[in-house]
Amino acid sequence: MSKFKIEVDGKTLEYPILVGSENEKAVDIAKLRADTGFITIDHGFLNTGSCASAITFLDGELGILRYRGYPIEQLAEKSSFVEVAYLLNWGKLPTSAELSAFEKKVASFSTLPEYITKMIQLMPKTTHPMAIASAITVALSGHYPELNNPNPTPAQKDEIFALMLGQFKIITAAIHRTLRGEALVASNPTLSYCEDFMSMMGMKASKDVAKALDVLLILHADHEQNCSTSTVRVVGSSNASIFASISAGIDALWGPLHGGANQEVLEMLEEIQKAGGDAHKALERAKDKNDTFKLMGFGHRVYKNFDPRAKIIKKACDTVLAQLGVKDQLLDIAKGLEEKALADDYFKSRNLYPNVDFYSGIIYRALGIPTNMFTVMFALGRMPGWLAQWKELRETKETKIARPRQVYNGETVREYVDASKR
Ligand code: ACO
Repeated sequence: MSKFKIEVDGKTLEYPILVGSENEKAVDIAKLRADTGFITIDHGFLNTGSCASAITFLDGELGILRYRGYPIEQLAEKSSFVEVAYLLNWGKLPTSAELSAFEKKVASFSTLPEYITKMIQLMPKTTHPMAIASAITVALSGHYPELNNPNPTPAQKDEIFALMLGQFKIITAAIHRTLRGEALVASNPTLSYCEDFMSMMGMKASKDVAKALDVLLILHADHEQNCSTSTVRVVGSSNASIFASISAGIDALWGPLHGGANQEVLEMLEEIQKAGGDAHKALERAKDKNDTFKLMGFGHRVYKNFDPRAKIIKKACDTVLAQLGVKDQLLDIAKGLEEKALADDYFKSRNLYPNVDFYSGIIYRALGIPTNMFTVMFALGRMPGWLAQWKELRETKETKIARPRQVYNGETVREYVDASKR
């Protein structure tokens, strides 16, 4: 099939078909409205591609996730977060010299501008860490006015990428320490990315545990056109700055149906624990259509078989707990819940499987990271993906401002009535 045919009012119209490198098919309906007067409606964008992208491939039916062609399983085992970030941004694995230079560049952003540290301190302690992360990210624009240009030079793009990875690591640690009333720990550019991060957080940073954290960040590094990444692209399409685009992505990630689910999973497991550890009630509530409760960490828009990241995380969870010598009843509750859900017809018939957020919280908890910081950890991992996707957007000549249409279903025209006559 070389053309997609649509019949409207007895007329057959043909639209071009695009085929991706993994044989994904799309119909290009750019001329549909001009030809027919029709627009398309697709709530939640279940069938709508917003762009062509060469960064991440995933197949939800087969449970495949690849960054720039490399399977996530191989990257989690053999690569490092900083190397994966390089891969996402530049599309190739770096040589040893390139990697070392990039690591040094990221590490060179080792302090925060003074006003940023003060802003974090000034935010009320009741502020959610994701709100601080978002506000601080957009506030960084003031320190780098020359980088607010939506069409940066190649050198500026490289600078933005390294600085955001370096600064967001310090921002995350600074939020954590400040909210706890603890003094900040300086970044040590001689340490690896995760060891430095753990040291700034005030966590024990053995090589093994830093590696486990590194794997978690790799698994979160990109996930094609999800809610937060699409937000970064939508905001970026208006020629807003990189800082505004990433800040908006952080806000989108915060939602409990997206990255905020990792916090919700842990709170759900704690509730089950408090109620005596019986997962049955949670399952029954999740199935009840009159109850808004959902089994957090279950289900995914794209994965309808299994989430390959969840498989890796489940294994990492056992390893980290063993290495740290932590016994966590929540892990047993999570495993029991997973087992029951996977055997239940409601979840089976809807292809609902654990997603990346189901087990990640248990690892963060074992590392001593408080629950309300979990989604910021996700943002730290997703940062290279957002940045690479923003760069791709800015470099694509077909990019237009994202501006969907609508079907208006409100009042038709009516005369204004003076207040005294209403
Ligand atoms: N618990 C109970 N029922 C669920 C769940 C769940 N976690 N997830 C989906 N369902 C049900 C829906 O109620 C719906 O049932 P119905 O067909 O009887 O109406 C059916 O499964 C299909 O679900 P949708 O909500 O239509 O699927 P969608 O693709 O729109 O949503 C989402 C995906 C948002 C992830 C959803 O599964 C969910 O809310 N999960 C819990 C939150 C979560 O874990 N989010 C993290 C996702 S991963 C990430 O963003 C990093």
